[in-house]
Amino acid sequence: MKKIIALLLVMALACAALTGCSGSGKTADDIKKAGKLVIATSPDFPPFEELQSDGSVVGIEIDILNMICDELGVELEIQQMDFESVLPGVQAGKYDLGVSGITANEERKKNALFTDPYCLAAQAIVVTESGSIKSKADLAGKAVAVQTGTTAESFCMAEGYKVNSYAANSDAELSLVNGKVDAWVIDDLTAAEMVASYNESHDDKLVILSEAMTTEPYGFATKLGNDDLINEINKILKKLLDDGTIASVFEKFEAPYTKP
Ligand code: ARG
Repeated sequence: MKKIIALLLVMALACAALTGCSGSGKTADDIKKAGKLVIATSPDFPPFEELQSDGSVVGIEIDILNMICDELGVELEIQQMDFESVLPGVQAGKYDLGVSGITANEERKKNALFTDPYCLAAQAIVVTESGSIKSKADLAGKAVAVQTGTTAESFCMAEGYKVNSYAANSDAELSLVNGKVDAWVIDDLTAAEMVASYNESHDDKLVILSEAMTTEPYGFATKLGNDDLINEINKILKKLLDDGTIASVFEKFEAPYTKP
């Protein structure tokens, strides 16, 4: 008898250590009991999440999250931070879900659990119309602005560019405008939004080079082990994808939609 108990104990410990299946993961029921889903976001990423002058956050992902919360019957609580703090906070279990135009790549999947992707994006190069960069090839050895902790940053480092990283996307844009760098690399849909709004009020126009450089599936992230929660959110997402709701949210924000 003692031996069996000891064996069970060893098995349980090994299981918890190896896979995190100790039952400590957050479930959809935990969220329902709490009555709210707490998300971490960097609201400098239109049209996905953007801070309004009244302090509220709006965007495609906020609409999707509101729908998910309606399905779960809970409130949405939005915690704002720089992008580089989103995934570490989620991994530490400080927030239920990271919602920040996050590219679900293999590297990140080692440290966080992702929902199924709901859209595809790509990295884009933004330059000044008057500048000398006309194509990706011109960027070799040049200085590039990116947002800290993003896939743009890792992409540009791998390409061997001189990388200037900024906590806020708007500062990366500013460094291009002020001539501190030769280009700004950022996800394509956000590039389109930010460039359009910059060009509305400036003469020295910004342009996006039409070279899609990567494929970036966006998903929402949670702490490893929160499988029940992610499965529940995946079910809701699948329904919203299949019935065209996600596509219509992109339409509402006048953004082109690429289904994964
Ligand atoms: N998709 C890119 C990444 O995952 C950029 C995301 C930036 N998001 C933001 N809300 N500023 O690294």
